[in-house]
Amino acid sequence: MSGAVFAAIFKEYFLIGGCMETIRVGDLQNGMVLAEDVHDMYGRRLLTAGCVINEKNLEILKTWGISDVCVTVESKIALGIQHTEKKNEPVSGESLELFSLVDRNDPLIREIWQQSISIRSKRPYDRFLKNTKEVAPPQRNSLPANPAAIIEMGEFTALPEVYNHILSVINDERSSAIDISDAVTKDPSFTSRLLNLANSSFYALKNSVDTVSKAVSIIGTRQLGTLALGISISRSFFKRGENDASLTEFWRHSIATAIAARTLAIFLKEKNTERYFIGGLLHDIGKLLLYTRLHDAVYYIDTICRSHSLTQFTAERSILGFSHSDIGRELCLKLNMPENLLAMITDHHSVAESLRPFEATIIHFADIIVNGIKKGSSGELYVPPLQEAAREYLSLKPAAIDAVVRQVETHSEEITEIMLHD
Ligand SMILES: [Fe+2]
Ligand SMILES: [Fe+2]
Repeated sequence: MSGAVFAAIFKEYFLIGGCMETIRVGDLQNGMVLAEDVHDMYGRRLLTAGCVINEKNLEILKTWGISDVCVTVESKIALGIQHTEKKNEPVSGESLELFSLVDRNDPLIREIWQQSISIRSKRPYDRFLKNTKEVAPPQRNSLPANPAAIIEMGEFTALPEVYNHILSVINDERSSAIDISDAVTKDPSFTSRLLNLANSSFYALKNSVDTVSKAVSIIGTRQLGTLALGISISRSFFKRGENDASLTEFWRHSIATAIAARTLAIFLKEKNTERYFIGGLLHDIGKLLLYTRLHDAVYYIDTICRSHSLTQFTAERSILGFSHSDIGRELCLKLNMPENLLAMITDHHSVAESLRPFEATIIHFADIIVNGIKKGSSGELYVPPLQEAAREYLSLKPAAIDAVVRQVETHSEEITEIMLHD
């Protein structure tokens, strides 16, 4: 009998009306029976429902970093392990408020909610910084007339020389692996940051990469170019406020969204995943300009979000007449950024209006997950609602969310260290 047939029969005869329980892999015992298939982060099935746990299976689960599996309650009882009904985790008012704009009956949102409760209950403290400052509404005529005016306000940090070299290489269809290596290696500190990223546990390459040309051959010319572009932009913007706790939280949110977006792209079988990483990294870059250039207006927007239960995107549009996405778009145009990055930055709150709805959806959903588990903060008070236009691109099982969250939790600090610190 094939494994698949056995699994089907197992499900039909043993699980209908039966009980299952989620259990930590560390608590698994030989003889327990899996109630559901177990997949790795790429969606490949590692073990099938009905499989009896033994030492070999345990090793597989640990090797692939699986944290929880579903087992049949019957198999626990057969081993003499007492079954205790799982009590609902305590739900705080803050969690209810955080998820107040979304439908918790939606299977994808429900999974994010469960992950959020579980992860946030283990955190020693919540790093979200609350605004307690009272600010009067800004005078309409004191506000910039359009997003381009925000870009023009104040000084603009010069991007490193390497940025323009990389940009011209990735914008040129005829460019080769040698061209991108030459462009990147012009800046030694930048080169080592890029190699550290390629060698990080997040990238999980089989062999270590010690030269840019090797990194190009593994990651690809354009993909590496996109990574390089994103690193140089985030580096120059990070310097502007590295001692400000809110900005550190902002970058923590951005890096978490980058990790979530790349992982989602892998789950959705996308091939060129680095653009999602950089799209996630830079998706809220318009907020950074708002924070640093319109301080009081940002405080007022925050007050309005709180008092009227609005997302920042909606409040910004009603108060300023444009949003951080529009500011991000202006910045992309000014920096000649590639179109796919422009779409992810511009449309992550308006998928239906996007010419590249799939790319915009990945960033939109990654942002929802990261806001749900409150990894860092870009100032958003609520988990943004999942847009209808995004649904058709999200052929994900709720279990995929678990893998995305695991990637974010495991790799965020390492990637932050590589990307931002000297
Ligand atoms: Fe945003
Ligand atoms: Fe965001």
